[in-house]
Amino acid sequence: MRQRDRDHLQRYARAVTVAQENERKRIARDLHDGPAQSLVVLSRGLGRLAQAGGDAPAGGEAARQLQDVARHTLRSIRRTTWALRPALLDDLGLLPAIESLAEHHYEPGTAAVAVGVVGESRRLDRDVELAAFRIVQEALANVSRHASAENAAVTIAFLDDRVALTVADDGIGFDVAAQERHDHFGLTGMRERTELVGGTLSVESDAGVGTVVHFEAPG
Ligand SMILES: Nc1ncnc2c1ncn2[C@@H]1O[C@H](COP(=O)(O)OP(=O)(O)OP(=O)(O)O)[C@@H](O)[C@H]1O
Ligand SMILES: [Mg+2]
Repeated sequence: MRQRDRDHLQRYARAVTVAQENERKRIARDLHDGPAQSLVVLSRGLGRLAQAGGDAPAGGEAARQLQDVARHTLRSIRRTTWALRPALLDDLGLLPAIESLAEHHYEPGTAAVAVGVVGESRRLDRDVELAAFRIVQEALANVSRHASAENAAVTIAFLDDRVALTVADDGIGFDVAAQERHDHFGLTGMRERTELVGGTLSVESDAGVGTVVHFEAPG
């Protein structure tokens, strides 16, 4: 590919990534302000109806069941909203957001995720925080979807002038070179985000041993 085409492509990929983040933020806000608020109101109303159902036990039970449905739907919307754009990341920074991702938002029933920290947690450039978070989110999604791992470990090192992140699993591993030729969006997206913040990314994987994703960026 000629240099000019490469520059074009890179500018395009950059614009798409930025547009995608803005769009995610907007959808998260709309979900929060619209359906999620309505479900809170609905769930409270059904709760009152269930309590008042003493005279009509069947009605009270029906209201209780509907309240369960409303609560369940609310939880699922909140999970989606969180994954689209965790407010925690903007408000408190990378470490709390990753800890929360590992604790509450990681697919249950798959690998156990441990989070380790090196150095003192601090706020970084917002673009670096967002890139790092999205990379960990995708790496952990890959662990739960593909790795058949028992354990995963996320390590965040706050170094003097940069941040270094590792996501390691003890799963089945895969042929990185072969996958990179196919255009899967996950790994490609990680590389794209890394370039946007002037960082480096490596993905190393061995069959039967596991996979290590390493990201570093100034900040
Ligand atoms: N931790 C991992 N363990 C085992 N295989 C992996 C792991 N991470 C990635 N892979 C393999 O690499 C492939 C490409 O990953 P990538 O994230 O790019 O795409 P994907 O997860 O298949 O789709 P998506 O675009 O939804 O992310 C996966 O389909 C899987 O075969
Ligand atoms: Mg993926």
